[in-house]
Amino acid sequence: MHQRLKMIRISWKWKKRATTFLVVGLFGLLAFELCKSSSKHETDHLRVDLKEDIRKVQQFFKSNTYVFTWSSCEQNISATNITNFSSFPGPMKDFLYYRHCRHFPMLLDVPDKCGGASQSAEVFLLLVIKSSPVNYDRREVLRKTWAEEREQNGVWIRRLFISGTMDSGKEKERLNKILELEHREHNDILQWDFSDTFYNLTLKQILFLEWMERNCPKARFLLNGDDDVFANTDNMVQYLQGLEDNDGSKHLFTGQLNVGMVPVRSWSKYFVPVQVHEADEFLPYCSGGGFLLSGYTAMVIYNMSQSITLLPIDDAYMGMCLSKAGLEPSNHMGVRAAGLDTSSNNIDRHDPCVHKELLLVHKFPTSHLYLLWNRIHDPKLKCFVSTKL
Ligand SMILES: *[C@@H]1O[C@H](CO)[C@@H](O)[C@H](O)[C@H]1NC(C)=O
Ligand SMILES: *[C@@H]1O[C@H](CO)[C@@H](O)[C@H](O)[C@H]1NC(C)=O
Ligand SMILES: *[C@@H]1O[C@H](CO)[C@@H](O)[C@H](O)[C@H]1NC(C)=O
Ligand SMILES: *[C@@H]1O[C@H](CO)[C@@H](O)[C@H](O)[C@H]1NC(C)=O
Ligand SMILES: *[C@@H]1O[C@H](CO)[C@@H](O)[C@H](O)[C@H]1NC(C)=O
Repeated sequence: MHQRLKMIRISWKWKKRATTFLVVGLFGLLAFELCKSSSKHETDHLRVDLKEDIRKVQQFFKSNTYVFTWSSCEQNISATNITNFSSFPGPMKDFLYYRHCRHFPMLLDVPDKCGGASQSAEVFLLLVIKSSPVNYDRREVLRKTWAEEREQNGVWIRRLFISGTMDSGKEKERLNKILELEHREHNDILQWDFSDTFYNLTLKQILFLEWMERNCPKARFLLNGDDDVFANTDNMVQYLQGLEDNDGSKHLFTGQLNVGMVPVRSWSKYFVPVQVHEADEFLPYCSGGGFLLSGYTAMVIYNMSQSITLLPIDDAYMGMCLSKAGLEPSNHMGVRAAGLDTSSNNIDRHDPCVHKELLLVHKFPTSHLYLLWNRIHDPKLKCFVSTKL
């Protein structure tokens, strides 16, 4: 709390300084240009340009309030005291050094994605897609397929990619530039300045929820998932509209339910030592590949997360937050976050009829996704046989 207050004060000082600097600069420029230009015609042009510049500066401060808000978070040196710390792999060490950091500067924001906080109930389904800066081609295909922003069955679907940063120096700048270009064109990226790694996914989720509380607290439902899934958003809208007695203001958290999952204690992508999570089992949670939740439940999770230490496995962390609130995740048969089991029942992964009935399937190469989405929407598609999955 103390740290937060201090940072806000610094941020104000900086904002004031930056504003003063820009305003003085603009007026200096105006005076200079006015002396230089002779004809009235030229001056008029200039006024228009300057107005445009002033508008841009104002816009900058309106949309980038958080640019100046957080200073960098310090490494926790005491983490080295943890038993066997030195034997942990690098990513786990990084996680422990920075586990307490929850605020990072925003690089790209879309504060008006939901039409403002008070209007946000107009958004029926907000797609919140975890995407790393390098996954440009995945984002491009999603925008053209299941994640297209549209009115579906009379309600609105909106899209956001959530991202951190990668690499350092020139390479980091280059990747940020790609996101910035995409953002300029599509207005659909939230990016914070933290390393976009597997163990930082929980951080990414919390940063998103914090953003949601500020900018889109009343969105009815959310799909939270990876950028390599096939999500049948048409079916999702239908399913959510069919929920009795829940317009997003009650609990919903559904997907592929995992119960009794055991933390991986040996070194792998999912390694979680006892020093980080003592219990032998995770609490029930839905696979992070993709799950559906209500706006209400998203805000409950955000509230609970304030007092739960970060766990490096983001979907299991969601389960902890739900449990603390006394809520349970549920299973939805249509969500195949682990992919389809195509070995046994003669199922063709590429058969559009198989996917017409499902809500979500992991994991798809982008080109297949593009083809499948189009085949499902082919008015000539006829699915005779009911799919037994
Ligand atoms: C933990 O580490 C800090 C900083 O390295 C050190 O000052 C402190 O004595 C250590 N505490 C314990 C309990 O070992
Ligand atoms: C730093 O790490 C130590 C060891 O895990 C922990 O006890 C302490 O609470 C951490 N400090 C902060 C500020 O999170
Ligand atoms: C620490 O490492 C030693 C040697 O590998 C091992 O025997 C011990 O069980 C470890 N302790 C913990 C708490 O991980
Ligand atoms: C998470 O991001 C922070 C900020 O960039 C970084 O210092 C830390 O090492 C990252 N943690 C992991 C596990 O990558
Ligand atoms: C979350 O916490 C805030 C502040 O304590 C509270 O106003 C709000 O009602 C809570 N939201 C939910 C969904 O529990």
